Amino acid sequence: MLQLRDVTVKVEGEVILKNINLVIPRGETHILLGPNGSGKTTLLKAIMGMGGAEVEGEILLDGQNIADLSVDERARLGMGIALQKSPAVPEISLQEILQITGEKHGTDEMEEKIESLNCGYLLERGLNENFSGGEMKRSELLQLLVQDPKVVLVDEPESGVDLDNIVIIGEALKRLLKSPREIEKKRAALVITHTGHIMDYLNADRGYVLVRGSITCAGNPRDLFEEVNQNGFEGCLECQITE
Ligand SMILES: Nc1ncnc2c1ncn2[C@@H]1O[C@H](COP(=O)(O)OP(=O)(O)OP(=O)(O)O)[C@@H](O)[C@H]1O
Ligand SMILES: [Mg+2]
Repeated sequence: MLQLRDVTVKVEGEVILKNINLVIPRGETHILLGPNGSGKTTLLKAIMGMGGAEVEGEILLDGQNIADLSVDERARLGMGIALQKSPAVPEISLQEILQITGEKHGTDEMEEKIESLNCGYLLERGLNENFSGGEMKRSELLQLLVQDPKVVLVDEPESGVDLDNIVIIGEALKRLLKSPREIEKKRAALVITHTGHIMDYLNADRGYVLVRGSITCAGNPRDLFEEVNQNGFEGCLECQITE
């Protein structure tokens, strides 16, 4: 469903990501690990068309190269992202953005989603304006749940989130990614994590380790996570687990 072919990303003339190749089939969730500054967020933003980076190579959504499309065109085609750090947009309220992206929702369905992420009290506030870290993550997840995208990109959903809120966020992501029976409704997801907690809620199929802008390992996400915990990311440059 989502494929990257030889994607190289430059920011302000500097190469941040080199020759990234990925295939995420319909119905699969892939996990991206990597040290601070390795390029994980830059990769997710490049896939979504954000961040003003110069992107070479192909980003294919169901076989269509979307690398030259704008963010909103990609969103309309069914790409969605929950950012690591979301900008505040005081001019629009959370309620307004939900009404725009979730226009097909009935009132009960919308209310139920808002309730499930405990965002009712945030609806009238400017989007992300003075939201706490946990409120920001819950609001990002709610926006994804309401947008209902077919490709789901999630950047560190559990960072800075307390244990109770990790349960709320984990359950929301699980709900979004749980596979419906009809193959054409299945999603593809790429999720960045440092702590691995979110993997308790997801049926992750494959994992990657990104070090210094290149994918150094690919394989079973839990095995990769364990290796990284034991040997650190530097170990990934020497060790090459392949499946
Ligand atoms: N707009 C920009 N201008 C200059 N440098 C940038 C820009 N965006 C990203 N970078 C640099 O690119 C590198 C990768 O950043 P990125 O945010 O993708 O890392 P990351 O893997 O997500 O790290 P973290 O785990 O800390 O979130 C960093 O060195 C960062 O400073
Ligand atoms: Mg990041």
